[in-house]
Amino acid sequence: MADGLTVTGVRAGYGAINVLWDVSLTAKAGELTAIIGPNGAGKTTLLRAIMGLLPLGGGTVSLGPQRLDRLPTWRLAQAGIALIPEGRMLFDAMSVEDNLLIGAYPTAQRAHAVRRLAAAYAMFPKLRERRRQLAGSLSGGEAQMLVLARGLMADPKVLLVDEPSLGLAPVVVDELFGVLARLRHEGLTIVLVEQHTERAVAIADQVHLMQSGKVVLSRRAAEVNLAQLHEQYFGLS
Ligand SMILES: Nc1ncnc2c1ncn2[C@@H]1O[C@H](COP(=O)(O)OP(=O)(O)OP(=O)(O)O)[C@@H](O)[C@H]1O
Ligand SMILES: [Mg+2]
Repeated sequence: MADGLTVTGVRAGYGAINVLWDVSLTAKAGELTAIIGPNGAGKTTLLRAIMGLLPLGGGTVSLGPQRLDRLPTWRLAQAGIALIPEGRMLFDAMSVEDNLLIGAYPTAQRAHAVRRLAAAYAMFPKLRERRRQLAGSLSGGEAQMLVLARGLMADPKVLLVDEPSLGLAPVVVDELFGVLARLRHEGLTIVLVEQHTERAVAIADQVHLMQSGKVVLSRRAAEVNLAQLHEQYFGLS
């Protein structure tokens, strides 16, 4: 049985400004956990705090029995946590394939990288077609697929994904969500931060709603009432 991610009582922020207040949530192994909430709620900050990119002012982060907080980010990567950050930080002047190979670095043996590359191309055939092309010449959708594929090159146990659909055309968002659903189906543990609430809830097992740096609602996705959610927290209906 794989291990889930547990966040307990986390406080974090930027210098003197605290953003996360006593955040607790779990992402069960093999499930897709969606984190939704309005702009500025602290979703990105939470992913950064989990990944060790921000010091915690309190609380713990664990993968199964293993404490992750206080470990440097590279150790978290080795432990099997991968963050696909907001904005698509690719090496534009490098080829698609070289961008992918960089993602394999936590377990950098060549044979392993070659196997992961084959798996990436099987999942993203378009990237195989474009493997010699510069990453900077990809379309927005292709670039997002490349970022996702690069994160998967390390063969993570837990994938943290921050707003992957940002700025993509609806048809590309469909494709992206299809890939996430497939990864979940294959047993990957996924934490997805998304603005597309409806789509996120549709593929999620568990949903956490954040507001002003706190988790204000945690539900099984099947029990989420979208209309009520929008009315209560987004003022959209
Ligand atoms: N580097 C930073 N320095 C200071 N404050 C920051 C920094 N990054 C974010 N913040 C603040 O922290 C709060 C939470 O921001 P965060 O980016 O985590 O929100 P979010 O839920 O990801 O929002 P969005 O949906 O817009 O991506 C905001 O008030 C933001 O202004
Ligand atoms: Mg964000």
